[in-house]
Amino acid sequence: MSRATLLLGRTLGFVGNPFGAPVDEVADYRERGGVLIRDGHIAAVDEADALRDAYPDAEIRDYGAGLICAGFVDAHVHYPQTGIIASWGKRLIDWLNSYTFPEEMRFGDPGYAAECARLYFDLTRSQGVTTMVSYCTIHPTSVEAFFAEAQRRGQRVVAGKTCMDRNAPEGLRDTAQSAYDDSKALIEKWHGRGRLDYAITPRFSPTSTPDQLAALGALWAEHPECLMQTHLSEQLDEIDWVKSLFPQARDYLETYEAFGLLGERGLYGHAIHLEARERARLREVGAGIIHCPTSNSFIGSGLFDMGGLIAEGQRVGLATDTGGGSSFSMLRTMAAAYEIAQLRHNPLHPAQLLWLGTAGSAAALHMEYRIGNLLPGHEADIVVLDLASTPAIAQRAARADDIWEALFPTIMMGDDRAIRDVWINGARTA
Ligand code: GUN
Ligand code: ZN
Repeated sequence: MSRATLLLGRTLGFVGNPFGAPVDEVADYRERGGVLIRDGHIAAVDEADALRDAYPDAEIRDYGAGLICAGFVDAHVHYPQTGIIASWGKRLIDWLNSYTFPEEMRFGDPGYAAECARLYFDLTRSQGVTTMVSYCTIHPTSVEAFFAEAQRRGQRVVAGKTCMDRNAPEGLRDTAQSAYDDSKALIEKWHGRGRLDYAITPRFSPTSTPDQLAALGALWAEHPECLMQTHLSEQLDEIDWVKSLFPQARDYLETYEAFGLLGERGLYGHAIHLEARERARLREVGAGIIHCPTSNSFIGSGLFDMGGLIAEGQRVGLATDTGGGSSFSMLRTMAAAYEIAQLRHNPLHPAQLLWLGTAGSAAALHMEYRIGNLLPGHEADIVVLDLASTPAIAQRAARADDIWEALFPTIMMGDDRAIRDVWINGARTA
C-alpha cells in the first residue's frame, strides 16, 4: 500500500441531492476538514484533527482556507472545436457549416488531432475539469488521439466517434456500415480500458440517415454497457428541419426512439424546446438531459427549463459544450446556468450549481458511485478552489456569513485563477 496523502482545508461534498432535500441536510461541509487519498482513491473524509491523529504517517498538504471539492464533470463537449471557440455571429446550422465542419475536417490528420487533444486537456485541467464526455469527429484517429492523451494523464473520460452520413460536407461523412464498424472497433479497443469509456455518438438526426440511426441503435443493443450521446431540440429551426427529414416522427425524440437510441444510458444535449411526450419518455426511461447554458445563450438557442425538468424528476447534468459553448470553465458554466434560471424566475442555490457540475453530471453518466463527490471509495479527482482569487471576489467573499455566500462570488465571477490545485486519480497535476 502506498503512502497516504492528507489534503487539509475547507471541504465540501454531498450526501444527497440539493434539489431534493434542504441544502443543510445534504451538504457535507467542514470548515477545517481533510481528505485522505491513498492508491488513487479517497480513503476518508473527516475533521482535519481526526485524520491527522488517525494517519500520522500521511504526507500533509495544507490548503488553509482553500475549498477542497470534487473535480468538475463536464457532461458534453466537442474537443475538436477548441480552435473555433468564440466564433462570431451565427446560429446553429450556419455555425456548424461555417466554422465547425471545416475545423472538424482537419482531424483526419493524426498529428493535428493529437496536438488539439493535448491543448484541450491543458486548457480544461487549468479549469479544474477532471472528467468530460466528448464528441470527436467522424475520423477514428480523432478518438484515438483523445483517449491516448486522457490515458497518459490518468483521466476518467468518455468519448466517441461522431457519426454523420448526410447533410455534412464531402470528407466529413461516413456511411451506416462504416459508422457501425468503426464505432464497434473503437469500443473493442477502448471501452473499459483503465479510466476510458466509449459513447456511441450519432451527432444529431439531421446528419444521420435512418439507416445509420438504425445501425447505431443495433450497436447500442449489442453494447448496452456503453453510453450513447446526441443532440436534442436545441434550436427551433433545427426542430423544423428534423420534422421535414422525418415526416413520420411525432417529435424530435422519436427520431432516436424509433431506432433504438432512447435509453437510460443515453445523454441528450440541450433539450430546450421539448414537447410533453418527449419529456414523459425521457423521464420514463431515466435518460440524461445535459444542460449547456453558455452554448444556449451564445448560439441563441433558448432558455432551458431547469426548474420544470428537475421538478418532474429528470436526470440533469451540466456541460460547457465547447466550442458552441463560450468557455472551458465549469464555474462560468454554473454562472450561466444561474443566469438562465433567473430569467425563468428560478434562482438556483450555490449548492445546486456545484452539485450539477460535479455529482449531478456524474449521476447523468451513471458514475456517481465513483466520481463527482468527496466520499470514501471514490476516485481521487479533486479540485481546490481559492475563494478569494481576485480583488473583486475577495472583497465580496470577506463579507460572507456562511460557505454558500463565500462560494457564490467565485461561481459567478471566478475563472482559472480560482483553481488553486487539481488532483487526478490521486496524483497532483502540474
Ligand atoms: N448540434 C449538432 N452538432 C452540434 C454541435 O457540434 N454543437 C452544438 N451546439 N449543437 C450541435
Ligand atoms: Zn454539442
